[in-house]
Amino acid sequence: MRKVNVCASKKYEVIIGKGLLGKAGEYAKAVVGTGKAAVITDDVVDSLYADILVASLENSGFTVVKMVLPNGEGIKTPENAFKIINFLAENRFTRSDTVFALGGGTVGDLAGFASSVFLRGIRLVQLPTTLLAAVDSSVGGKTAVNLPTGKNLAGSFYQPDLVLCDIDTLSSLPEGIFKDGCAEVIKYGVISSKTLFDTLKNGINNNLSDIIAECIQIKSDIVSLDEQDRGLRQLLNFGHTVGHAIERGTDFTVSHGGAVAVGMVIISKAAYKSGLCEKSVHDEIKELLTAYNLPVSTALTAELLLEHALSDKKREGGTISLVIPEYIGRAVTKKVSVDELESFIKSGLDN
Ligand code: GLY
Repeated sequence: MRKVNVCASKKYEVIIGKGLLGKAGEYAKAVVGTGKAAVITDDVVDSLYADILVASLENSGFTVVKMVLPNGEGIKTPENAFKIINFLAENRFTRSDTVFALGGGTVGDLAGFASSVFLRGIRLVQLPTTLLAAVDSSVGGKTAVNLPTGKNLAGSFYQPDLVLCDIDTLSSLPEGIFKDGCAEVIKYGVISSKTLFDTLKNGINNNLSDIIAECIQIKSDIVSLDEQDRGLRQLLNFGHTVGHAIERGTDFTVSHGGAVAVGMVIISKAAYKSGLCEKSVHDEIKELLTAYNLPVSTALTAELLLEHALSDKKREGGTISLVIPEYIGRAVTKKVSVDELESFIKSGLDN
């Protein structure tokens, strides 16, 4: 078992290991006490893991209610956030009761957002069941819902009280969902750790707990310095501006991890063509993503990518912050004007 401490506006532990769902009640009780527990999950995760979690919570003295939403990014709406809020109100939850977000990033973001708004904030335990949620969205306190105009456009910074990452849930994932998380893991190597990047060349499954803990430690270090995403934290968005544009431009038929993978390839190519890094940086990134069977190209045009990129949250007036890899293990942010962005993206698409 591995533990990572996060020191943001709230201090909490991320615990990573096998069989944690069955002990979730004990771990949660030690942090939030008992009381009412609302398990928020989706129908796929519900059939696999909710019973184990509910039994564990009940055995530790929680009174449990459960809300099950359909699986998929489509549930991350303001309407569903209010459904959860009303569910908590109808069950007379108070601020000493706790929401348990059991699922991937979609459930975590949605339930986290509802938790931050209900009674101006109630207790929250994140239980990620995908690799992507484990290494990224469950940690660091970003919560959000999507608007018709863009992804994650309404949200809050709201740190959980505890994150429990049960490795057993990750290994039962369909291959595509696991691969999605691998893109985010590779991202951590590029922006912060050559050692991690090189380790990933030997595969990920042999020391999954250690690799997840390393990613979370990198995220924790960044979030503790810039919780509100004013500068340093933007490094975590390497590949994401173009990635989000690809997700939207393909009506979300390309997954988040796949889109981020292509985004990393496009940006690193544009970066070397602009003299911001060596070509070998781009080549190494592309090679590792390819080894993980992640996509490395898109049929979308630069014009379309630009259109969607401009509704990205990282835009500030006439500029947008892009994350540029300087070498493997170090990235920097660079403000690019909206006018420059199209030609930058174009140079990343060109052969
Ligand atoms: N997913 C990027 C962040 O948490 O800042």
